[in-house]
Amino acid sequence: MADLHDRWVAERRNEHYYKLAKKLNYRSRASFKLIQIDDRFGIFRPGDSVVDLGACPGGWCQVAQERTWPNGHVIGVDLRYIRPMEGVETIIGDITEDSTMRELLNRFNGKADVILSDMAPNIAGHYSTDHARSIHLCTFAIDVCDRILKKDGKLVMKVFMGDMFDTLMAELEKRFQSVKVHSPDASRPTSSEVYVISQGFYGKSVKLKNVNETDKKPEFKAKGGFI
Ligand SMILES: C[S@@+](CC[C@H](N)C(=O)[O-])C[C@H]1O[C@@H](n2cnc3c(N)ncnc32)[C@H](O)[C@@H]1O
Repeated sequence: MADLHDRWVAERRNEHYYKLAKKLNYRSRASFKLIQIDDRFGIFRPGDSVVDLGACPGGWCQVAQERTWPNGHVIGVDLRYIRPMEGVETIIGDITEDSTMRELLNRFNGKADVILSDMAPNIAGHYSTDHARSIHLCTFAIDVCDRILKKDGKLVMKVFMGDMFDTLMAELEKRFQSVKVHSPDASRPTSSEVYVISQGFYGKSVKLKNVNETDKKPEFKAKGGFI
């Protein structure tokens, strides 16, 4: 009975954010997750440079663009085509591929203040598989931080919970002064996703390979060694 009630509440909430997104011209319900995260943690400042990983259809890019206005610089990266939007650059590619990473580094002339990752793997529906794939994507988001995030920069990253979560947190804690786990109201209550808000990047502490080398790999292995 409780389960049915929880599902009913979740569906009402989804419908609420879906309608609100339509009304306010956001491309996805996910926009509200980032709005709520920014309202609570103060992620964006006017003029910030932002990289949004897993950006399609562009809901987070819209929020980043609005909240870094007037001089912000936003680049969205996704496997899928992102319909053009004013004031946002896009890269279509897989961030786990060297060519995409190189294009991001070439196009991103300078350093980022904020890295966002709402990347999600194709859902297998199997808890530990989805978790492992999510962690795999997170390692690449961290690799992007190691390459282009400014000292004191921020990372907002989606993770599907599971047994490798603590290892991921340990990697984040090596790099950031503050690492917090948060579940915004706009997240589905039934979902295993959480957002990790990392602030105060210490700067490059990891020895990086030359970005022009084709053999780009994250500089750490998550527990389980699937990278
Ligand atoms: C939940 S959606 C993002 C929604 C987006 N934040 C928004 O507000 O519109 C997750 C996205 O991650 C992308 N993605 C998954 N793996 C990726 C990868 N290896 N490289 C780039 N994008 C990836 C998917 O194509 C998908 O569009």
